[in-house]
Amino acid sequence: MKKILITGAAGFIGSHVARLFVNKYPDTHIFNLDKLTYAGNLENLKDIEHNPNYTFIKGDIVDGDFILELFKEYQFDGVIHLAAESHVDRSIENPMEFIMTNIVGTVNLLNAARHIWDGDFEGKRFYHVSTDEVYGSLGNEGFFYEDTAYDPHSPYSASKASSDHLVRAYHDTYGFPMIISNCSNNYGPNQFPEKLVPLFINNICHNKPLPVYGKGENVRDWLYVIDHAHAIDVIFHQGANGETFNIGGHNEWKNIDLIKVLIKVVDKKLGREPGSSEKLITYVTDRAGHDLRYAIDSTKLQETLGWKPSLQFEEGIELTVDWYLKNQEWLDNVTSGDYQKYYDEMYGDR
Ligand code: NAD
Ligand code: DAU
Repeated sequence: MKKILITGAAGFIGSHVARLFVNKYPDTHIFNLDKLTYAGNLENLKDIEHNPNYTFIKGDIVDGDFILELFKEYQFDGVIHLAAESHVDRSIENPMEFIMTNIVGTVNLLNAARHIWDGDFEGKRFYHVSTDEVYGSLGNEGFFYEDTAYDPHSPYSASKASSDHLVRAYHDTYGFPMIISNCSNNYGPNQFPEKLVPLFINNICHNKPLPVYGKGENVRDWLYVIDHAHAIDVIFHQGANGETFNIGGHNEWKNIDLIKVLIKVVDKKLGREPGSSEKLITYVTDRAGHDLRYAIDSTKLQETLGWKPSLQFEEGIELTVDWYLKNQEWLDNVTSGDYQKYYDEMYGDR
């Protein structure tokens, strides 16, 4: 049986990737390695936890000795690496966690894979999941392409850029069998409510202020998380080693416009006058170093591997809002405890 290690599969995107692989490839064993930080939640994988081709391993990718022993024990054929500290605002408050997990953790995985594969890379693959934020910020025109120069601005994006460079360096230096994708903003079920979409859905429901950074004019390119999972599947199985693929939805929204759509959809579903929750919009101090605009050109992925997003944005937002409204218990669980402290520190004095 083929063995694939997915790191960070208790998190938002990782849980959707793990579910897709466990169900679609019953002859492949999926190992989920996750530290279960505040962002990792095994409830995200309840439906597959007893599948015979799924195993959860709790562990920290920063612990190099542990990672090496794990690779020696399980002899993984492939790695899909998603584990990361992923929230820009947290990286501004505490960069060190991002350096350790995103850079040191990635190198520990590269070293362990290189050690057990020992130069025999036939049928082996290390897939590094990255972000469009490594490319920096666009003006009003243009797109990010696979060969756009890196220009990261936050500690988060700089740590992801650094890990991308290291993964490519292992390919160029050792012939290591890597592949990278850089994706735009994801939205959908199971996202931790520190990120814009779930935070705002939750706040609208509870009639809490909606903290819009700056003037709300920053632009993001939104992709439904399950479409990202499908792209990862296609790239993992059909991409060539050494390649990079951009993933995105060609779906750009100014923050304030996206927020107004969210308000309308949530209001309607809660039986309120659609748009009435706009009174909750509160403009707050801008994020430091806030990138103005991200927009991905995913032509390479669409034309060479035939992937395309399956959902229209309106449909994706409906599904997303429905999921959070139906999963209030999930939201209550993840917003108890430390979340409140985080929220007060982040937004209390704005
Ligand atoms: P997330 O924060 O929801 O999940 C991260 C997961 O990694 C959690 O389960 C967490 O417990 C685990 N983790 C963190 N530190 C760890 C460590 N030291 N050892 C082991 N596990 C650890 O993140 P996400 O939004 O699902 O993002 C997943 C990946 O995709 C990240 O690499 C991120 O950079 C990338 N990405 C995210 C987006 C997005 O919009 N969310 C877009 C493009 C790329
Ligand atoms: O582009 C891909 C990236 O998308 C991923 O690599 C990151 O892991 C992911 O967190 C996301 O980064 P962003 O910073 O774009 O996402 P976030 O949801 O934090 O913010 C989206 C936009 O909304 C951004 O312009 C900042 C703004 N914002 C965010 C929050 C949390 C607000 O105006 N208010 C808020 O309270």
